[in-house]
Amino acid sequence: MTQIPRAAVLGNPISHSLSPKLHNHWLDRYGIQGEYTALQVTEDALAETLHHMPEQGFVGANVTIPHKVAVMRLADQITDRATLIGAANTLIFKNDGKILADNTDGYGFMANLRQGAPEWDPKAGPAAIFGAGGAARAIIVALADAGVPEILLANRTRPKAEALKAEFGARIQVIDWVQANLMLSEARTVINTTSLGMKGAQEFRVPLDLLRPDAVVTDIVYNPLHTPFLLAAKAAGCTTVDGLGMLLHQGVPGFERWFGKRPEVDELTRRAVLS
Ligand code: ATR
Repeated sequence: MTQIPRAAVLGNPISHSLSPKLHNHWLDRYGIQGEYTALQVTEDALAETLHHMPEQGFVGANVTIPHKVAVMRLADQITDRATLIGAANTLIFKNDGKILADNTDGYGFMANLRQGAPEWDPKAGPAAIFGAGGAARAIIVALADAGVPEILLANRTRPKAEALKAEFGARIQVIDWVQANLMLSEARTVINTTSLGMKGAQEFRVPLDLLRPDAVVTDIVYNPLHTPFLLAAKAAGCTTVDGLGMLLHQGVPGFERWFGKRPEVDELTRRAVLS
């Protein structure tokens, strides 16, 4: 008897994850016999859980907070982009028993921006990034790869931004958090990678009056979908792209590897995940 292919998202906590809705929507939509669940896994149990998953029919997994960095030590092979980012969100359990770790966050970010703002040109001018956490790392790698000429980076804790500059190079200019609004007079791509504006978190308070109307503005926060940051950008005449698409697109490469079909991200997908 052949088992149906299984995949799961591993995290702690995990109940808030939208990944099961996303992957089950795709499984239904394409009539694929498969299963995708959420597994709450503590840091202590991560290695053991991963070790036993292949024998239980798992073909891969997504990993989320707090396992994205730890999982790198447990993988047998790591893709170049996961190595560069220093974290993984997608695992593939290969037939030879090896675990391949990949990071699709930068891909998801880029695919979302290209879908939401088809006219967006990364080379048009500098990008301004608020925040220097895990999400910012993936986005910096993706933007540099897309040919953005300069990245202006502001973080409340400045040394974290300096560390990213030291790691990712000369194209990054660190701006003090209290002067972060000054990045906007030049920026053609503007990204909030902080948790500011998320339901239950603090507000995004950096003044946005210097935003250029020809900037493309996006937020990684997707709850609420229309963050005050995006609403202000829209009011300033900017093209805005919400953060939900990044989550949806980052799931595409994993689903394709595990279940053999490259899934679409469209209005149907968005509705299924938001329902
Ligand atoms: P992620 O992996 O999602 O990027 P993270 O690594 O915890 O999560 O990063 C969160 C980001 O939001 C950081 O840039 C953080 O700034 P600090 O490095 O100074 O902590 C930023 N952030 C969170 N709360 C903030 C606040 N109240 N004001 C400004 N920035 C904040």
